[in-house]
Amino acid sequence: MRVLGIESSCDETAAAIVDDGARVIAEVVASQNEVHAKYGGVVPELASRAHILNVVPVVQAAFDRAGISLADVDGIAVTNAPGLSGALLVGLQTAKALAWVTGKPLVGVHHLVGHLSAIHLETNPPPMPHLALIVSGGHTSLVRVNGYVDVIELGATRDDAAGEAFDKGAKLLGLGYPGGIMIDRLARTGNPKAVPFPKAMTAKDTGAEFSFSGLKTSLLHHVRAHGVPEGQALSDLCASYQAAIVEVLVRKTRRVARREGLVHVQICGGVAANSGLRAGMQAAAIEDQFTLYIPPPARCTDNAAMIAAAGYHQLVRGERAGLDLDAVPSKPLPRAEQRV
Ligand code: KG4
Ligand code: ZN
Repeated sequence: MRVLGIESSCDETAAAIVDDGARVIAEVVASQNEVHAKYGGVVPELASRAHILNVVPVVQAAFDRAGISLADVDGIAVTNAPGLSGALLVGLQTAKALAWVTGKPLVGVHHLVGHLSAIHLETNPPPMPHLALIVSGGHTSLVRVNGYVDVIELGATRDDAAGEAFDKGAKLLGLGYPGGIMIDRLARTGNPKAVPFPKAMTAKDTGAEFSFSGLKTSLLHHVRAHGVPEGQALSDLCASYQAAIVEVLVRKTRRVARREGLVHVQICGGVAANSGLRAGMQAAAIEDQFTLYIPPPARCTDNAAMIAAAGYHQLVRGERAGLDLDAVPSKPLPRAEQRV
């Protein structure tokens, strides 16, 4: 089954064509970094407008690269939740129009289920059940993945997402937007022990909740007291800040994996592209003897191949959305306590 995926939930307009939820035939991502950089974060209205300009050329480019036409796909999958409502609507209306004119089946994909599905595009995906750490600009969650569309959130952040901690930290340090990758780059040559930062978890805490707002405040106090450093000292500060985020993510993930008895762990979402997190999780996997799965960096950040992969499994289950499919800006994953 060949699926066209469309993603426009935040600041990337993306389209991809994927066979059987696993083989990427073509994928295109148009980033809006330049649009939002001068504001230090995503401006929702500008994001919607940029999606409107980009969405048709991006979908067309995916078909051109694949050397096929719309008639050759068997279904259309589009992110309809969660995300910026105006941004979501652009991809959603495009997908609906294409489904309407072709009569092809349509499914709405939860963006986080999309992130979880990026790993199925790799040759050796994790078996079910497994534990997933989703770390993106808007979400930080530990999730038990029982099946392709059967996921249970075990815990999430109580305040900022890990990506938000990176982006707000980078903004404070004048590193521009998006900041995660800038901190990552500088941290590579820095000393992670140079500046002590708080880690929001107690020694015996096996829960799956996170908190990053205190860390951000701590960086603010540091900058107020010492100013924004330059050169090696800036690299040291970035390395220390990144290490504080990574340490909490790694420690929580390994504890919850142990608690849940899960020996396969994946990390996904934009922050899974972080070199410190990838290295930290790899070291933990060796020590704790779990098998670690991480998509390549370009499939950690927002893309449409992951949406097509998730949509494939929904279509296979017989799911079909009508033309009344709506954008849902806030839609938490199901929690364990909601299961009956
Ligand atoms: O998954 P994603 O592309 O969009 C959302 O669903 O939010 O994640 C974007 C987030 C941003 O906060 C960005 O700064 C962060 O992922 N990010 C990184 C890196 N690459 C992207 N954070 C740290 N290190 C990176 N290399
Ligand atoms: Zn995302």
